[in-house]
Amino acid sequence: MDSMEINKAVAAFLIAGIAFMGSGLISEALVHPKAIKGTAIKVDLPSEQTAAAAAPEAEPPIAVLLASADPARGEAGVKSAGCVACHSFNEGGKAGVGPNLYGVIGGPHGHMEGYAYSAVLKGKQGPWTYEAMNEWLKKPSAYAPGTKMSYAGLADPKKRADIIDYLHTLAKEPVPFPAAPAQKAAAPAGGAAVAAAPPNPAPAAAAPAPAADINVLLASADVDAGKSSTTKLGCIACHSFNEGGKNGVGPNLYGVVGAQHGHVDGYAYSAALKAKSGPWTYAELNEWLLKPSAYAPGTKMSFAGIANPKVRADVIAYLRSLSANPEPLPAAEAPKQPG
Ligand code: HEC
Ligand code: HEC
Repeated sequence: MDSMEINKAVAAFLIAGIAFMGSGLISEALVHPKAIKGTAIKVDLPSEQTAAAAAPEAEPPIAVLLASADPARGEAGVKSAGCVACHSFNEGGKAGVGPNLYGVIGGPHGHMEGYAYSAVLKGKQGPWTYEAMNEWLKKPSAYAPGTKMSYAGLADPKKRADIIDYLHTLAKEPVPFPAAPAQKAAAPAGGAAVAAAPPNPAPAAAAPAPAADINVLLASADVDAGKSSTTKLGCIACHSFNEGGKNGVGPNLYGVVGAQHGHVDGYAYSAALKAKSGPWTYAELNEWLLKPSAYAPGTKMSFAGIANPKVRADVIAYLRSLSANPEPLPAAEAPKQPG
């Protein structure tokens, strides 16, 4: 789009806003007794914009908000919040002042081919996660200082969640919502009885299982789901997975399970990853994919991590399948629970 058209689009947006404000003032001044019929322009200005400056309050995590979000409200929200002035949302839709937004969730930052993004947005690594989208829509200029998106932000977390829910539906395979923060492990039933019970001969038999064990999860993991997760989560933006595939931002991942850390000859790994000795075990991959920066502080892999243990297991099962001779699955541990 040339700058002339951009100017026109911006002008149209501004004029619409001014006309609306004007009509509001006039109708107030006249104190018209009857409701105005068929107002020509109906643009709800984003009223949250000033509220965005208000003192920050602790917000519930986006995973929690998404659980009660409503994509229909979000679809209405992108109109009332003015997003539609700059964005199209349909598959294959044209860029306006801003890029088309179909498939943006789970896509890389700056996901629309051929759209001239700002350097700051293009410089953001990794896919648009729900958390990132939530930050962005709260205040674009804070998330990406210097962004071209001239939009103050949406202060209301519920409204953001509805819009994010709507954005997430704009895909052939919508990215699953993040898991809400794990519930506390259930307290042992009949807590009061514990004190009265005779001392247990065995030391507390069941120390709480560390989350769900990767070995257990791998037993029921889904290779195909893992494969599609590598698309949805954006791994494919940086990695190839086929035998002999080229390195991208990250190394080719064929045969990584059971291979040494930094398994691709000639790829320039970070010192942090090269320093890890021994092969990639399932347990280590599980830790790595949970939070790369925690497993190998200083790693070059700019990826926040996969919080959902089941999704991690699926991805690891898929990685395992990328071999002529896949590593054996971990022996399923015999359940030792009495009864
Ligand atoms: C005044 C025009 C304008 C308005 C209004 C606007 N945007 Fe944008 N938007 C842009 C521009 C321009 C960019 C590209 C930003 C850059 O390159 O820094 C963008 C980028 C984005 C992106 C990133 C796209 C990608 O491919 O990475 C998302 C998501 C987005 N906008 C969502 C929204 C939503 C949701 C709203 C309404 C709450 C909204 N925008 C309102 C102009 C606008
Ligand atoms: C933004 C780019 C990027 C994304 C997205 C990304 N990676 Fe990586 N990945 C890298 C880089 C760079 C390295 C090398 C890390 C280092 O040297 O510290 C790497 C390393 C790895 C390794 C270790 C490879 C080896 O040879 O030891 C694995 C496994 C891996 N990534 C899996 C994944 C998976 C699975 C995903 C998606 C869930 C993913 N990566 C997403 C860039 C990325």
